[in-house]
Amino acid sequence: MLVIGIETSCDETAAAVFDGRKVLSDIVSSQTDIHNKYGGIVPELASRRHIEMILPVVDKALGSSGVALSEIEGVSVTQGPGLIGALLVGVSFSKALSYAKKLPLVGVNHIEGHITAILLEEEVTFPYLGLIVSGGHTSLYVVNGIGSYRHLGSTRDDAAGEALDKGGKLLGLGYPAGAIIDRLASEADPKGMKFPRAVVHGSPYDFSFSGLKTFLVNLVHREGKGFAERNLKEIAAGYLEAVVDMLVEKTVKAARENNLATIVIAGGVAANSRLRRKMKESALEYGIKVLYPSIPLCTDNASMIAHLGHRYLEMGKRSGFDMNGIPDWPI
Ligand code: KG4
Ligand code: ZN
Repeated sequence: MLVIGIETSCDETAAAVFDGRKVLSDIVSSQTDIHNKYGGIVPELASRRHIEMILPVVDKALGSSGVALSEIEGVSVTQGPGLIGALLVGVSFSKALSYAKKLPLVGVNHIEGHITAILLEEEVTFPYLGLIVSGGHTSLYVVNGIGSYRHLGSTRDDAAGEALDKGGKLLGLGYPAGAIIDRLASEADPKGMKFPRAVVHGSPYDFSFSGLKTFLVNLVHREGKGFAERNLKEIAAGYLEAVVDMLVEKTVKAARENNLATIVIAGGVAANSRLRRKMKESALEYGIKVLYPSIPLCTDNASMIAHLGHRYLEMGKRSGFDMNGIPDWPI
């Protein structure tokens, strides 16, 4: 079955064509240059840009896949979670495409897309532990199979990517800052500057990152002008190390306590080199395997949406034309 996947949940307009075995094309148009000067995503600007880009992006995805629109057999779209105005562009476009070409349509969950994207690149046996770490989410799930998930824990406040982006904004690094912090941190000693690790009471698998951010705000204000510029690499390395340590500790603990032999890291922050390395090293001590998708499959993309939708369409799942965007949709 040839499926086109459409993704517009946040600040990337993306389309991909998937044939059930291979991704034939994957086009992503990023809006970071539009939002960068505001230090974060402006929802109204995101929606407008999606409207402008959806047709050219789909056209390009079809063109580079070598598949004609008339050959497409199904449409998969991100239905949520995300910014409602942004989601509605993809959802409305997909409904129109499905109606005009009489194609089966399915709305899928963005987080579920991230957490199952690994199946495009690796043979993974269920169950596995999925850690989703992005700008909007930090959660742990036991993945028993497609559509079967058990939630173990989430962040109580900021997502890990949000902590990196907000920290980066404070350091004048622009938006989004995760990849810049990754690069700066690789040039300094992660133990050079000490940042706190949060202790979360109650649930053993919940995270918290807002205290770390507050610590950085206080540090920069206390030390005064020029401190951040002079110590940028050391701050980046210490700050990132705290985020990574908190993620690694809870994730490896969750895998051990739930007898899971494989950890899969997904979402934009899974692109982080320090997180990948430390998670692997720490899990290895307990014989646990760590897998992560290639970088383009970690950050927002439509391949994961086409892949997940393909699985659901083959299972007979369909969405109607009454489908709506769901801004808050836990899996
Ligand atoms: O999954 P994603 O593309 O969008 C959301 O669904 O949120 O994730 C974006 C997040 C941003 O917070 C960005 O700073 C972070 O992923 N990110 C990284 C890296 N690349 C992207 N964080 C750390 N290291 C990276 N290399
Ligand atoms: Zn995402």
